[in-house]
Amino acid sequence: MQEQIFLNGSFVSRTDAKVSIMDRGFLFGDGVYELIPVYNGKPFLLDKHLSRLNKSLTLIEMKNNLSDDLEIEKIVNEVIHKNKFKDHFIYIQITRGTHTDRQHVYQSVIEPTVLVMGQFSKAYTADEIKKGFRATIHEDYRWRRANIKSISLLGNVLLKNHAAKKGMYETILIHNDKVTEGSASNIFIVNNNVVYTPKLGNELLSGVTRSLILDLLKKNKYLVEESDVTKEQVMSADEIWCSSSTSPIAPITEIDGKVIKEGTAGTVTLETHKLVTEFIGKF
Ligand SMILES: Cc1ncc(COP(=O)(O)O)c(C=O)c1O
Repeated sequence: MQEQIFLNGSFVSRTDAKVSIMDRGFLFGDGVYELIPVYNGKPFLLDKHLSRLNKSLTLIEMKNNLSDDLEIEKIVNEVIHKNKFKDHFIYIQITRGTHTDRQHVYQSVIEPTVLVMGQFSKAYTADEIKKGFRATIHEDYRWRRANIKSISLLGNVLLKNHAAKKGMYETILIHNDKVTEGSASNIFIVNNNVVYTPKLGNELLSGVTRSLILDLLKKNKYLVEESDVTKEQVMSADEIWCSSSTSPIAPITEIDGKVIKEGTAGTVTLETHKLVTEFIGKF
């Protein structure tokens, strides 16, 4: 059976789904999205993802609580159920909808375009996690509203490809000498057994995984600080990892040719990976 996706009120097969060329998402990248892991047929931390979706919608001046009005939670569960997803991802995209003319100014009455579909992804093996990944550092030239989970991802796409072209996993972004985040992840470093991650603001996404990791570390009595993290701190860190819904803990063991400590995932990184894996296992 073809994968069933939800588009504007109906379920259709993925290949039959069509969106107008006048959609503001297509013309302007005017919309927001979420990516939600599905573990064992259940959407993981769905309430957190939907509350961030509502926040993004409010920040782009679409209706507050629109995702509640559209009953997105129900739709997400239907997409999982219809496609018998077990371990998968759900992608939600809401754009401001279509206009008859291409014009920057948006109309106050909006009929959003709503898409909910599955996305396949493969988890890293224990060996890959232990070995870790390579990263590069680059100036964060994206717009200064990275707290909005916008579908306008050209900056992130170019910066992710900057790493991919070198065979690396991630680009760590620096603005005003401070780490903001990765091109598709949040960043954590460990120094002298203290875990640091950049504090929230307009310059980075409030990652659902970032927040889960902070909660788990605090509950387990680790020392954690949400603070400015400089490029120098990254380069001299004992351990580094990236967090995201797609790969909750991705250890970074080399940055621009500099090997981090032993060149394999560090102790705190592996302990955090275990805490997160156990939490997901109990979910
Ligand atoms: C730019 C950026 N920062 C951070 C994250 C991590 O967010 P989450 O943990 O909610 O997936 C992502 C995930 O896609 C991202 O694209």
